Amino acid sequence: MVMRILWRWLPLTALGGLTWANRCREGVRPPVAQQLLDELFLGNDPMLDFEYEDLVPDTSMTHMSAKDVDLVLSVAKPSFWLELGSFEGGSAIVASERILAHGLNTSVVAVDTFLGDVRVLWERPPEERRKLLRADGRITLFDRFRNHLRNANLHYCVLPLPATSVVALKLVDSLARRSRAPLPEVIYLDSAHEEGEVLLELGLAWKVLSPGGVLFGDDWLLPEEGETTSLLEGAWISVFASKVDIDSYEGHASGCSAIC
Ligand SMILES: C[S@@+](CC[C@H](N)C(=O)[O-])C[C@H]1O[C@@H](n2cnc3c(N)ncnc32)[C@H](O)[C@@H]1O
Repeated sequence: MVMRILWRWLPLTALGGLTWANRCREGVRPPVAQQLLDELFLGNDPMLDFEYEDLVPDTSMTHMSAKDVDLVLSVAKPSFWLELGSFEGGSAIVASERILAHGLNTSVVAVDTFLGDVRVLWERPPEERRKLLRADGRITLFDRFRNHLRNANLHYCVLPLPATSVVALKLVDSLARRSRAPLPEVIYLDSAHEEGEVLLELGLAWKVLSPGGVLFGDDWLLPEEGETTSLLEGAWISVFASKVDIDSYEGHASGCSAIC
């Protein structure tokens, strides 16, 4: 009897955050995502109206691990997690699952052009490229992203924003200035991977990061054969290293950096 009462009370009190957090699994969007949905998408939810396909996710681009997310969540309890570069949704799924495990009601907003780029689409072998291209030339990334999130039952936990990272960061800045949305406490950057573009993304991301927030990412330096990375490395050292704690850790395939 007592056990029963405790069981009923625990979710509402001690486990209140957990219960609340898991409401996105039940179809309730976290607050910032709902605000953005109303403000940007005129109330039409891009995660609801699309053709369901039973697809095998391509996880080869997903280098974010549960350990990365746990490290970030040990220093930030974000209401707004902004991901730049989502591909088929692998990192958004890892982040959301850990966020829910931590009992947080975080809005994960996943930005991508959903058009791919040289590395993830155009220079891949034909059999891999075929999955990403429809016969009429349209790219399937946005549909693959939505299907994978739907299959993971995380389609109300993650809101996609089809845009370049630069457009999204400018938009986030403008929305915050107009008090339409808060600044993100966490930004995960895994998009352009082109040196000059990454530098631009990093500068804009740093500008919109909420004070005390975390900016982290994957493969910021992906030099082409014969190229140097001096521009980004030089800028990195002069702009960021003196102002932040930088934590780069081993055991990660491509070297993931967290800045707090
Ligand atoms: C390496 S993949 C991201 C992988 C993803 N985070 C995961 O874990 O599966 C890079 C993604 O960035 C996107 N992208 C490339 N340039 C971009 C840009 N300038 N703005 C936004 N997205 C971009 C590509 O479409 C691609 O989906």
